[in-house]
Amino acid sequence: MSTETTDHGATYAAAYDVPIYQKAVDHVWIHTVNYIELAQKQGMHVFERGEGSTLYDARGEAWIDALSGLWVVNAGHGRAEIADAMAEQARKLAYVSSAAYTSIPAVQLAQSLAGITPGDLERVFFSSGGSEAVETALKIAKQVQVLRGFPKRYKIIARRGSYHGMTFGAMSLTTGNRAAQERFFGPLMDGVYHTPSPNRYRNDFGLAGEEGDIMCARWVEQEILFQGPETVAAVIGEPISSSNGVHIPSPKYWQLLREICDRHGVLLIMDEVINGFGRTGAWFATEHFGVTPDIMTMAKGLSSGYAPIAATIVRPHVFDVFNDERNTVSHLLTFGGQAVAAAAALKNIEIIEREGLVARAVVMGDYLLAGLRMLAERHPSVGDARGLGLLCAIELVKDKETREKWPRDAAFIKRINELVLERRMLTRVWEILHVAPPLVITHEEIDRMIAILDESIGIAEREFGMA
Ligand SMILES: Cc1ncc(COP(=O)(O)O)c(C=O)c1O
Repeated sequence: MSTETTDHGATYAAAYDVPIYQKAVDHVWIHTVNYIELAQKQGMHVFERGEGSTLYDARGEAWIDALSGLWVVNAGHGRAEIADAMAEQARKLAYVSSAAYTSIPAVQLAQSLAGITPGDLERVFFSSGGSEAVETALKIAKQVQVLRGFPKRYKIIARRGSYHGMTFGAMSLTTGNRAAQERFFGPLMDGVYHTPSPNRYRNDFGLAGEEGDIMCARWVEQEILFQGPETVAAVIGEPISSSNGVHIPSPKYWQLLREICDRHGVLLIMDEVINGFGRTGAWFATEHFGVTPDIMTMAKGLSSGYAPIAATIVRPHVFDVFNDERNTVSHLLTFGGQAVAAAAALKNIEIIEREGLVARAVVMGDYLLAGLRMLAERHPSVGDARGLGLLCAIELVKDKETREKWPRDAAFIKRINELVLERRMLTRVWEILHVAPPLVITHEEIDRMIAILDESIGIAEREFGMA
């Protein structure tokens, strides 16, 4: 049933005179946002077009996109070239069955991904989003272990604070909002165990620097031994975890995890859904650490958001068990490798290469991080600033000395969010405030983002008696 107005809508209509906003309040279910707040606090934003790092809403107002959507639009908004490639492909061929065939752009994309990913990762299973790519990785890992003759290896070790998506298996790996997930959907997938995640600002073991990272890797080995290596299928982690606050581990952490997995016959899955496609100043963040996982997931920046496409890429030794007339992967996704989406991803990769956006992320990332560090020096509520390439964040704290955390729903955090939005900047303001703009971001735009944060944090600190 369609309604012209709702209670929430009535409040909202008073604030906006553009009908599309009213319709959005009435009909669109925006993921994860509290609906009352969204409607009453004029939190509904409807966007019409984008250009580079700027978005224009349905009222024509310009916003700076400091999170590339949701760590997605690496190549920037408004790429006519990608739109043209998609249109051309759609006119030729949009879809063939992913169960039985493939298409020219899907083949070209698979080959391109085999070329840009590290080591001998070379066999690609396509899907539509990051959660699907992670589900695919889990299913491949479990099936490969069974087909290798280890039917009891079903357990997965993930890290605390991780986020790997919201479908059932991926959600079971995710711990960010565990209580809510268990309340509504528990029991979650059986056999998932969580270990400490590298965090140099607030290390679980009270260890500073690399030592703390290494202890986190050792803990994984302890967990494998405790569970019994003959029961463990895989270890999964983001090379640099965004959800856990963008802590950059020592290369030794990942190298040690690689050794531990090899020692115990456990597959290593690295989730590059956010980290990939130049975001951290390398095609894939695994490169910073000098390790090749057995299975790697990617999505988001794969098409810079121009089409919903994701991929799970594996090494030959993982695929080998399927090079056998008895074995087929027990997995199928109708839209995996859809031809128009593949064409979008191919053109996106071509642009990232041609415009040197991976190298640009290094230079602009250094500039951004310097700005964020300046905020940390200047503001009592900014405990830390960290990042690699254009994957950056600041951590908001109650007290710099004690590093006491703000609860995510603290009025102080909400106030900063309001102030940032009033200044027409889009990002995620939680106790971790992420800044990860498109790789085409300019120095002037970074200056503007830093100025907006400086002003917003300053006002909130004064209002809350912190400055
Ligand atoms: C590391 C990681 N993995 C997987 C996902 C899930 O991706 P999607 O939302 O496209 O399903 C996300 C989403 O943010 C992510 O950050």
